[in-house]
Amino acid sequence: MLKLLKLLKDGRFHSGEALGAALGVSRSAVWKQLQHLEAEFGLSVHKVRGRGYRLAAPLSLLDAHLVGEAGADGCWPVQVYDEIDSTNAEALRLVSAGRQAPFVVLAERQTAGRGRRGRHWVSPFAQNLYYSLVLRIDGGMRQLEGLSLVVGLAVMRTLRAVGVNTAGLKWPNDVLADNRKISGILLELVGDPADVCHVVLGIGINVNMQSCEEVDQAWTSIRLQTGQLVDRNNLVAQLNSNLRAYLDLHRQSGFESLQVEWEQAHLWQGCAVSLIAGVTRLDGTVLGIDKQGALRLQVDGVEKSFSGGELSLRLRDDS
Ligand code: BTN
Repeated sequence: MLKLLKLLKDGRFHSGEALGAALGVSRSAVWKQLQHLEAEFGLSVHKVRGRGYRLAAPLSLLDAHLVGEAGADGCWPVQVYDEIDSTNAEALRLVSAGRQAPFVVLAERQTAGRGRRGRHWVSPFAQNLYYSLVLRIDGGMRQLEGLSLVVGLAVMRTLRAVGVNTAGLKWPNDVLADNRKISGILLELVGDPADVCHVVLGIGINVNMQSCEEVDQAWTSIRLQTGQLVDRNNLVAQLNSNLRAYLDLHRQSGFESLQVEWEQAHLWQGCAVSLIAGVTRLDGTVLGIDKQGALRLQVDGVEKSFSGGELSLRLRDDS
């Protein structure tokens, strides 16, 4: 099935005969596979008598070899899955199986993509990036301080470099463009954070997705922002290289060296917001972040700091 998809990915017409010959099957077997492809992957195939079959839109498929070619030498090993429950879950399984970090897990689609606060991350086939980088941390808590915010900076730089000029950050680690979510980040940790542990930096980026009814919040994608089909292998290579640069800086100089840059990229600096923690809500004004990446809010004239993976921010109606 994936071989057929690879033949069709250019979005051009291919005759049933040529497809059958390339796959070593009959034309009716090609027809059956095409129907399966549409049902299974949610893809639309155009059939025109006398010309053959073509995908409604060309696809950029992931290929670990092409990621390596597009990137700098010595970048992290990449493992690509056609389908997985969650790249973060698989990364954690590989760590328990003894796989040496660092390494990257990518998937064409996730059947149980994980979002923050127990939410589901919608992950249609071959449209977006579902990326998990595993790092071994042996420098104690300092190496974890502000780490998710640093990942946000690397993602934002990657998006701006491919033409999403309005990309900016929302505390703690959402990346927005035109006030719509374009990327989400989920860090998961295993081991002892005060000693040696492994951290999975899970990144979802909406890349070529143009429609999706399942997503229950305002979203956009690189394609919607720039009008261009994005080569996802190049994008992975650029993301790897930005992550490497920011992670090096973070490891060498700590989060405080990136605090000002992060605040400059924060779209909600000075805004009136509500901080949500489960069913509790606290109103305040965003002052910025501290040296550890905690949110600084002015609440009833008093400055307070907040941190934790379960917190989220909303803009207040009166802001
Ligand atoms: C969020 O809720 O904003 C975080 C979303 C994180 C999604 C990414 S996709 C790759 C990685 N694997 C997962 O299961 N989740 C993260």
